[in-house]
Amino acid sequence: MCGIIGYIGSRNAIPVLINGLKRLEYRGYDSAGISFLKDDKIGVRRCAGKIKELEIFIRKEKLKSNIGLGHTRWATHGKPSEENAHPHRAGGIVVVHNGIIENYIELKEGLKKKGHVFTSETDTEVICHLILSYSKKGHGLEQATKEALKLVKGAYAIGVINEAEPDKILAVKKDSPLVIGLGDGEYFIASDMPAFLKYTRDAMILENGEMATLTHKGVSVSDIYSNRPVKKKVMKITWSPAMAEKGGYKHFMLKEIYEQPRAIADTIRGRFSLEKGEVNLKEFSLKQSDLKKLKKVFLVACGTSWHAALVGKYMIEDMARVPCEVDIASEFRYRRPLIPGNCLMIVLTQSGETADTLAAQKEAKRLGARVLTICNVVGSTSSREADGVFYTHSGPEIGVASTKAFTTQLTALYILSVALAKAKGQLRAAEITALFNELLQLPEKVEKALKCDDSILKIAKKFYRVRDFLYLGRGINFPIALEGALKLKEISYIHAEGYPAGEMKHGPIALIDNDMPVLALAPDDRVLEKILSNMEEVKSRGGKLIAVATEGNTRVHAHTSHMLFMPETNYYLSPVIFSIPLHLLAYHMAVLRKCNVDQPRNLAKSVTVE
Ligand code: F6R
Repeated sequence: MCGIIGYIGSRNAIPVLINGLKRLEYRGYDSAGISFLKDDKIGVRRCAGKIKELEIFIRKEKLKSNIGLGHTRWATHGKPSEENAHPHRAGGIVVVHNGIIENYIELKEGLKKKGHVFTSETDTEVICHLILSYSKKGHGLEQATKEALKLVKGAYAIGVINEAEPDKILAVKKDSPLVIGLGDGEYFIASDMPAFLKYTRDAMILENGEMATLTHKGVSVSDIYSNRPVKKKVMKITWSPAMAEKGGYKHFMLKEIYEQPRAIADTIRGRFSLEKGEVNLKEFSLKQSDLKKLKKVFLVACGTSWHAALVGKYMIEDMARVPCEVDIASEFRYRRPLIPGNCLMIVLTQSGETADTLAAQKEAKRLGARVLTICNVVGSTSSREADGVFYTHSGPEIGVASTKAFTTQLTALYILSVALAKAKGQLRAAEITALFNELLQLPEKVEKALKCDDSILKIAKKFYRVRDFLYLGRGINFPIALEGALKLKEISYIHAEGYPAGEMKHGPIALIDNDMPVLALAPDDRVLEKILSNMEEVKSRGGKLIAVATEGNTRVHAHTSHMLFMPETNYYLSPVIFSIPLHLLAYHMAVLRKCNVDQPRNLAKSVTVE
């Protein structure tokens, strides 16, 4: 998730681009850059770091131009650095890009053979070279871009300038957002509206496969597949800039909860081939033969990422039949763990900077383990120090309470488990296909799960004044009970506990009285009967039962009227779906209690001290 901006008009484009990038910084902030046309020559200025640094870097030059592109980066391919920062350039073609090009390695190899020289590690640079190669064949910018994009697989929102056609910006989108701002004789492209709200409130939203051509005279849109012109509706934006930054949501946490279908789709993108039944672990240096020899897996993390690790144990042991040990990083680093040969440590960390997780990772390496990190931040310490990385690509997570980072970690673990099970010969081809087919439906099912928001708000209104809350789960959804409780306590300050439902009789059942709300996770799985009897035990002691069940399950409904129904999926993916209502419930309870949802007291997004 990066931010792009483009401007053509009579103002000086440079401050417009810098101001727009600042408004988009929430989309990424590891490096930034601008390009502009001056005296019909392209100029590019880029640097690692935040927009502020770019601003300082260009200040002395007093640059002026009436056309330009800008980019704030959240690295996906290649570490944050000046070379990898956008805009990218090949000859007179300059491109800014938000998205992921899945087949860039093949495209890059092909272009290199034809003499193209690459200067970055990014996937984006192939787009410039492809457009350049088609313009050299005599195509104008529009046609060259269309031809180039026919070869590209993946998601993109791009802005393009050509030195040879100095009065034009092209913008094209597929599966990454792009909006056009329409001012008075000036036009904008941007990943999101806050980038140009200061100048205009009239906007058009580009749809997949649409190309916009911006000139000083206006904007025209066409369909890149049919070449037909498209008539677009102009909308008036009524959001304030602060609201627009959060996509119209009240808090970043809510926005990030709603981003999950997109985030999960990005985690999955390019990770496997359904036809070949193969998993593509691009950044992972372990070969199939190494996976085959694996004797043990350690999963280590902190907080919410540790909950993902707990789910990972259920997935890996069940699918691949490889023993797993799960540790909280701060425990692992001091407990003198026994690391056998042929063992893999999987570290889970959204930020890649959590002090205890990094120390545990170091300790595991010292003791001879190979380390793979499932991480969201490209170029973070964890990703640099690990032997391999599985990037979740969920985009920057700004709300302190982790949501989309968690469900994308679960998605990554699912893909890894299938890879491991395949290497170990534990799954037949048909089973692998079925698992991937279900995974492909996950973004849509998460979208459906989000529809329970109104019902959750009603439940939150009933319970937000309580002092305590209990969450129960079993099997692969027991860690989701822990996650639901953590989310509630960290943002609403209600005391909450997550329990494996079978443990209730061994102590916690003493807490049940008429004031105790108990949320039970009851998906249609191998332990449904067991959780139903646990629910009965709560009910008969006066506890206030809320149940989350699989769509259409009338048996669970018979136990309580506070029901939430989730779309059906397989056992391994049910934790992803069942986390959605729990994150939403914590969110609504916190808002009703007037808590600072995005920045809860005493907490930091990244815990970089022990
Ligand atoms: C809770 C939360 C934290 C983090 C934990 C680890 O909502 O966000 O518990 O999960 O601090 O952070 P990362 O994953 O960055 O290592």
